[in-house]
Amino acid sequence: MPYRTIIEPFKIHSVQAIDFPSPEQREQALRRAGYNLFGLQADEVIIDLLTDSGTGAMSDAQWAAMLVGDESYAGSRSFRRFQERVQRLTGLPEVIPTHQGRAAEWILFAVMVKEGQVVPNNTHFDTTRANIEYQGAQAVDLVIPEGRDPAAEHPFKGNVDVAALERLISEVGVERIPLVMVTVTNNSGGGQPVSLENLRAVRAVCDRHGLPLFLDACRFAENAWFIKAREPGYGDHTPEQIAVEMFSLADGATFSAKKDGLANIGGFLALKDAAVAAQARNLLILHEGFPTYGGLAGRDLEAIAVGLEEVLHEDYLRYRIRSTEYLAEKCHRAGVPTVRPPGGHAVYLDARALLPHIPPSQYPAQALAVELYRDGGVRGVEIGSVMFGRPQPDGTEESAAMELVRLAVPRRTYTQSHIDYVAEVILAVAERAGEIRGYRIVEQAPWLRHFTARFAPAG
Ligand code: F0G
Repeated sequence: MPYRTIIEPFKIHSVQAIDFPSPEQREQALRRAGYNLFGLQADEVIIDLLTDSGTGAMSDAQWAAMLVGDESYAGSRSFRRFQERVQRLTGLPEVIPTHQGRAAEWILFAVMVKEGQVVPNNTHFDTTRANIEYQGAQAVDLVIPEGRDPAAEHPFKGNVDVAALERLISEVGVERIPLVMVTVTNNSGGGQPVSLENLRAVRAVCDRHGLPLFLDACRFAENAWFIKAREPGYGDHTPEQIAVEMFSLADGATFSAKKDGLANIGGFLALKDAAVAAQARNLLILHEGFPTYGGLAGRDLEAIAVGLEEVLHEDYLRYRIRSTEYLAEKCHRAGVPTVRPPGGHAVYLDARALLPHIPPSQYPAQALAVELYRDGGVRGVEIGSVMFGRPQPDGTEESAAMELVRLAVPRRTYTQSHIDYVAEVILAVAERAGEIRGYRIVEQAPWLRHFTARFAPAG
């Protein structure tokens, strides 16, 4: 098309009303929720950028597929459709459906990871880290140095530091490493992509040491688009071809269909190894369900099978990546610090840079997230020391590498004017950054504390 504007590649077929809580209602909601945005009711939020997980809009083709869902307990036709699509995409023969990504992670780690072992990744997402630690093992992040610097411009900031991976293997011993993981895109590091060149280099290290390589593939399609756009030699490849090549380098994958499955629920564990798959299926039956539905309805499996096709359409991916970049550009032009370049599914505001007067011990990203809600009813999520800080025995805390607020863009859900509104709110809050104060935690859980912690204004 000769025009510059990349339009939403769909027209709206069904709408859901947005609520507009008043500033007083928002203040009251914040106090009730202990300043934790996970504690808000969704109708207390105007624009909900808490997550891109399960919050997308399904297509008419997906809703139509749901109507023909086969709800048979065993051997459902919908499972075969799902399995066939996952096999064609990943090349992995063993397909185990799960109710979402973390169920696949739990099952994989319960089978493969033992106490005292070490699992490397570019950056573990909070659920993979917690599920590894739950097995008594250690989750180690080995992203390249650029991936830890919000301002560094690099086309593949999600890449694994291959030399660091080699060092880790020789330090801890290959027998203590059950598998290597790579998260595409690297959510906790800013939604940044991993190049095929890097995946191949990680594969080569794994081959040298006889280690299996698993993808945390939640956003594989967005990663494929970045490869198409940025990696030399891939401009002419389709996103499907690139995705197939990514998966061909792996021995297995965990997947949350709530992201690039374009579905509201679901996931899978896919593998090459039939013996590991057999053990995984035993746990699946115990925790999720029979191997041909794994905690999902037949209709969910149908929606995911269709979603896994649609998510690789070029029109969709071009719009998807552009809409995130559009919000990031508005912030960047106004001098609001964000993780550069913008990631695939979210804009990450750099709270450490925006709020240098708030020390990490007072959770600057939490403070910024609260302020965006207070000011404009926009809900994002803290990805910083609340999520990844490590309480020490002496009562202090080791802070996270970065203090970010993630504004995740649900798929096919908001239009450009919604995003223009969000940008206005961000700019208004940034304008009075100096007045924003930090928080302290008054209540927390031992695992994944960010979901339920309660806060109070510090000092
Ligand atoms: N891995 C990554 C990279 C993720 O981003 C997520 C979920 C999971 C695994 C777990 O999948 O939620 O289906 O159990 N991320 C969501 C988010 C929750 O908001 O980023 P799940």
